Amino acid sequence: MDLLLMLLLLLGCFPLLTLQEAALRFAVLADWGGLPLPPYYTPHEKAVAAELDTLAHTEGVDFVLSLGDHFYFSGVDNVEDARFKHTFEKVFFQPSLLHIPWYLVGGNHDHKGNISAQIAYSNISHRWNYPALYYDLHFTVPHTNVSVSVLMIDTVVLCGNTYDQSQPSGAEDRQAADQQWNWIRSKLASSSSRSDYVVVAGHYPVWSIGNHGPTSCLVKRLRPLLKKYRVTVYLSGHDHNQQFIREDDGSSYVVSGSGVVSDTVTTHRDSVPSSWQLYSSPVNHTVGAVAYVRVTEHKMTVNFLQTNGKCAFLAEIPKNTL
Ligand SMILES: *[C@@H]1O[C@H](CO)[C@@H](O)[C@H](O)[C@H]1NC(C)=O
Ligand SMILES: *[C@@H]1O[C@H](CO)[C@@H](O)[C@H](O)[C@H]1NC(C)=O
Ligand SMILES: *[C@@H]1O[C@H](CO)[C@@H](O)[C@H](O)[C@H]1NC(C)=O
Ligand SMILES: *[C@@H]1O[C@H](CO)[C@@H](O)[C@H](O)[C@H]1NC(C)=O
Repeated sequence: MDLLLMLLLLLGCFPLLTLQEAALRFAVLADWGGLPLPPYYTPHEKAVAAELDTLAHTEGVDFVLSLGDHFYFSGVDNVEDARFKHTFEKVFFQPSLLHIPWYLVGGNHDHKGNISAQIAYSNISHRWNYPALYYDLHFTVPHTNVSVSVLMIDTVVLCGNTYDQSQPSGAEDRQAADQQWNWIRSKLASSSSRSDYVVVAGHYPVWSIGNHGPTSCLVKRLRPLLKKYRVTVYLSGHDHNQQFIREDDGSSYVVSGSGVVSDTVTTHRDSVPSSWQLYSSPVNHTVGAVAYVRVTEHKMTVNFLQTNGKCAFLAEIPKNTL
């Protein structure tokens, strides 16, 4: 077989040209939190871990962004909770994964338990990095001065818990929510002038066609900030699928919540303009594993990878979208 063709087949959606380019590479996953009964994980979660392992070997993974719902259904009780071992360490056990840092934010299920214990686990595991409920990260694309800022936000503090309803019920601690909204505004104001790429990541989606649908609190209050400060992409989980949504003005949204299961629910397909729905695992009949992001000097690409290792969709986001 022709070598070029063979490479194309092997690489799926990975664009050949950018492969030689220096890139910052990270995986985005959420909602991988197993089950509260033995063996405390699902076969799908195992498959996601295997895909992450493959990715670490073949493409390289600099870090993982883990966007909440790490332990179903009610988080953990304390820092000694055996779920850290059964649902995280023993599932993401592959040697290639042991030295890759994870950066985490909480989801609604994490907040039903002891969220401080998840933060405290950062002292126990060297790869578990959860310094505070919300925080920011700064990277550069290797061999360049191109900068990437990531704001890890706690959307449960901002919008409230869902208590298994479709929408979060409103911030429970108004002062804590307002404090975080102010933090987001001031970080975005400074990052957008300083960084080449600005990423915001949290548990609840802004837009989603799945079971829970768009989060009205974030559509109302976060979306205008993402646009105002020209945020490159908003990353989330919550609905158990993969989605890439791009508004007409170029603002981009990734949902990567197929950690524990990849569901086929499209309840809110009509809540998002169809021209914005560029890809979703339930509509496009794929089985989502992880979203793999590569940031180069000129653009960001997001590969939506399946549990069979294939890439279902490649999103390209230029450095200055808006
Ligand atoms: C939460 O976990 C921390 C760390 O293990 C522990 O110190 C604290 O007592 C726990 N809180 C509750 C309410 O159990
Ligand atoms: C980690 O341990 C240090 C020293 O024991 C302690 O001061 C700090 O509060 C701990 N951090 C967390 C997140 O629990
Ligand atoms: C990065 O910036 C520094 C200071 O402006 C400059 O000396 C260096 O050549 C730049 N490196 C690259 C790879 O652009
Ligand atoms: C996903 O499915 C929709 C609706 O059938 C179609 O228009 C779109 O091209 C598909 N996208 C991909 C990436 O396959």
